[in-house]
Amino acid sequence: MDNPLIVINCKVYHEGMGRRADLIAQSAQDIGEESGVTIGLAPNYTDLHRISHHFDIPVFSQHLDGVSPGAYTGHITAESVRMAGARGTLLNHSEKKLTLADIEAAIRAAKEHHLETIVCTNNDATTAAASALEPGYVAIEPPELIGGKISVSEADPDIIRRSVAAVQRINPRVAVLAGAGIHSGVCVKTAIDLGTRGVLLASSVVKAEDPAHVLRDLVSRL
Ligand code: G3P
Repeated sequence: MDNPLIVINCKVYHEGMGRRADLIAQSAQDIGEESGVTIGLAPNYTDLHRISHHFDIPVFSQHLDGVSPGAYTGHITAESVRMAGARGTLLNHSEKKLTLADIEAAIRAAKEHHLETIVCTNNDATTAAASALEPGYVAIEPPELIGGKISVSEADPDIIRRSVAAVQRINPRVAVLAGAGIHSGVCVKTAIDLGTRGVLLASSVVKAEDPAHVLRDLVSRL
């Protein structure tokens, strides 16, 4: 995954479930092929298997638990996510926060099952701590900008700069994504120019009347 990467998190938005998830996945596949940008999707767990098997895009779980198969109830294991066809997982999203120990266990479990890992962080300290655990990516997302109309690229480019610098210092093998409020090609281009590999986003695409239209704009300046 060396191309620019856009990951669309469906969260549990009504507009990101079932047939709408299929429509978003189809748009991601078409626009990814047209543009050469890798566009991945993190659907609901119940959509994970179907989307992984019907579309040629990287599919991510929204979370997983770093436990081995066994006597746990309601947990999501790396093995089950892999068997469902996912390529990777988000971890520690602001809406699904984990302890450092949980993140470490989840990264280990994901690696055992050859899953890519994107650890979300909300400030400089968590970015630094997460990068030391060597996920594939850290995704810096200031929580106050999540779901809003003003993106991290516009409102707080410095946090992106500092995250890239911290990751470079601590573990340059880790790539950085930026997220929160990303809604246009300019937001994506700014994030990439600041040293990230791409963006993590949700509402601008998932809640759009025409997700393909928004996606075309998102890749338009790359
Ligand atoms: O995981 C992506 C996310 O938290 C950002 O959400 O709606 O601001 O793009 P949004």
